[in-house]
Amino acid sequence: MYDPIVYLLETPKYHLLKIADINLFSGWVFNFGEQKIDSLNVYVDGQLLDNFAVNLPREDIAAYVPSIPAVKTCGFSFELKITSEIKELDFAIVFADKSQQQLFKFDIANIVQQQKYFNQLNKRLSLIPQPKPELVYLTQGHYSTDEYKNSIIPGVMNLHKYLKHVGVDLSQIRSLLDFGCGSGRLLVGWHLLAPNIELNGCDLNSELLGWLQQNIFKQCIKNNLTPPLAYPDDKFDLIYLISVFTHLSLDIQKMWIQELTRVVKVGGYILMTLHGEIYVRNGFWQEPDKIQQFLDNGYIESGSDNGSNYYASYHSLNFIQQMMVGFELIGYFPNGTMDNKRNIFHTAQSQDVYVFVKNR
Ligand SMILES: C[S@@+](CC[C@H](N)C(=O)[O-])C[C@H]1O[C@@H](n2cnc3c(N)ncnc32)[C@H](O)[C@@H]1O
Repeated sequence: MYDPIVYLLETPKYHLLKIADINLFSGWVFNFGEQKIDSLNVYVDGQLLDNFAVNLPREDIAAYVPSIPAVKTCGFSFELKITSEIKELDFAIVFADKSQQQLFKFDIANIVQQQKYFNQLNKRLSLIPQPKPELVYLTQGHYSTDEYKNSIIPGVMNLHKYLKHVGVDLSQIRSLLDFGCGSGRLLVGWHLLAPNIELNGCDLNSELLGWLQQNIFKQCIKNNLTPPLAYPDDKFDLIYLISVFTHLSLDIQKMWIQELTRVVKVGGYILMTLHGEIYVRNGFWQEPDKIQQFLDNGYIESGSDNGSNYYASYHSLNFIQQMMVGFELIGYFPNGTMDNKRNIFHTAQSQDVYVFVKNR
């Protein structure tokens, strides 16, 4: 089963929360299930602080979710003063029938503790070149340079969380590959958060890769739609693919699994994000046969221009597990959730997150 609650907290991101100041909490949230979301309750250390409407127009989000009329007004925006005495903010969804469900928690105490560190990170991040809106669109499907830049640190913090959760010791990761790195969004995050790791990235898009090589990471390489990669055998401790197989046909995904198997060490990890059932139900709401095909076979694909955002593939847990021959699945985070709890920030919106280890 998938998590029907789809959301994005656009501001403030984790590392940008201002302590002893007023913060604007803005974003959007909708339910892919039956009940409409009416509002959000915000609790401060267990005490209800206030209730805020979810009713602002978000035609930009509605364009991607035509099947649910409520998405047209799924936005929220309110100000809260955050003091260093607060430990935790708890956001709860209030449905139309007044029932409630936890959305996510904002761990303020941890941010207060790490404020100096976050300030340093923000300073270092501000010195790194950022791509123009047209390049942002090619990897994110939107033109917001702010959302792109502000997603870098939480995106990689999330990756660390997933890896640590399945027992990966990050200090043992010496060399990693961001396969389908685009303009280097997440590589920048690793550079800031884990500066001792050797960073490598590759992508087939010359515009994105050319910009990345010229502006940030010279060592990144361009590859073709199909293998090989110009790396020796057993090079990487970790390879991650954030929304990459989601844009490739099955035959090409299989070729890449073989090639990635070659370049990852035995005992090394592959983390990937994939479109699961909620994406199928959203994308094919007018094609019940296609939904049934996914439910029967665990896989569908559609579109044109393999490797671009115009091509889309969808995987079930069983299907990807069978494809990853020679690997053991050690982490499955449906829609990015961890232990049935939603993360406050995403690495790849509501995609499923998988972690595999190479065992032979
Ligand atoms: C949705 S974007 C995600 C980019 C990046 N991983 C991120 O999270 O910001 C998908 C990326 O995969 C790249 N890609 C698709 N097929 C590829 C292939 N066969 N080899 C390398 N990169 C590929 C695209 O060019 C694009 O940059």
